[in-house]
Amino acid sequence: MSEAAIAETPHRQASGETMLRRAGLIWFLTAAAGQAAFIYFIVVYYGGRTLAGDFAGWNDKPIITGHVPGDRMGNVMFALHVLPAAIITLGGLLQLIPQIRNRWPAWHRWNGRLFLFIAYGMACTGLILTWGRGTYLSVISGIAISLDGVLILIFGALAWRLAVKGDFDAHRRWAMRTFMVVNGVWFFRVGIMAWLILNQGPVGMTENLDGPADIALAFGCYLIPLAVLELYFAAQRSETPGPKYAVAALVFVMTGVMSVGIFGTVALMWGPFL
Ligand code: HEM
Repeated sequence: MSEAAIAETPHRQASGETMLRRAGLIWFLTAAAGQAAFIYFIVVYYGGRTLAGDFAGWNDKPIITGHVPGDRMGNVMFALHVLPAAIITLGGLLQLIPQIRNRWPAWHRWNGRLFLFIAYGMACTGLILTWGRGTYLSVISGIAISLDGVLILIFGALAWRLAVKGDFDAHRRWAMRTFMVVNGVWFFRVGIMAWLILNQGPVGMTENLDGPADIALAFGCYLIPLAVLELYFAAQRSETPGPKYAVAALVFVMTGVMSVGIFGTVALMWGPFL
């Protein structure tokens, strides 16, 4: 390597790192805006109707099985699943903000415990709604969301154990993986809307959620974010700038697609029912 190239390398390495950090930050801020819309929808739509005692109103928008007259157990399970969704989505976002973690570590620990407790509750009630109440459109879509539920249980346990052991590097990685699987259901809604808008229609989709695009989205909604996260970790570790630039570019593209989906969820999926 020439002397000029050797002198250039640390500079390129530093700007690769800056680019990667910026891509991660812009992704996070975009996801936070889209998740704030999800939280607002849950609080206003489900929270408002539940507080008013209008349980039948859960069905005002298209869902598979919401309120069923006489099915007290199933209705309670639905409420126990849907209402904490707002708390866990907000709690997950707050856990990832480094300034909060560094300034109020005790708060981070308590919010982390609450997040994991609710995550376990969501995964268990979700599994019961799917297979106990039979809330699925096709077996394959039920399997896809169930695998997400199982990953929430496994990743959550690992993140918690590593924090208790004091292995904070590994804890951070497993906590971020847990964040991705917990938000799988949000990515699913965003992914469906992005696909519909970019293709100008339901290409590869069926009413039973078993078309090729439905299946790819049902598994991809957590496997793709997990894969990109692994690439992000690998790029952070890399001693050369190339992978940092490449992953930063990938994260920018994913953020662009996610923005289209967020627009779709707000304008077409939730907005019309508020
Ligand atoms: C932990 C993250 C999760 C969150 C934040 C979440 C959130 C929600 C929300 C907001 C709804 C209301 C439906 C809507 O209006 O779109 C819902 C419904 C539902 N969720 Fe989850 N969920 C999560 C995990 C799961 C898991 C892991 C499963 C399955 C194993 C599951 C199964 C269901 C089912 C079956 C319904 C009813 C769907 C319907 O009737 O259309 N959820 N969830």
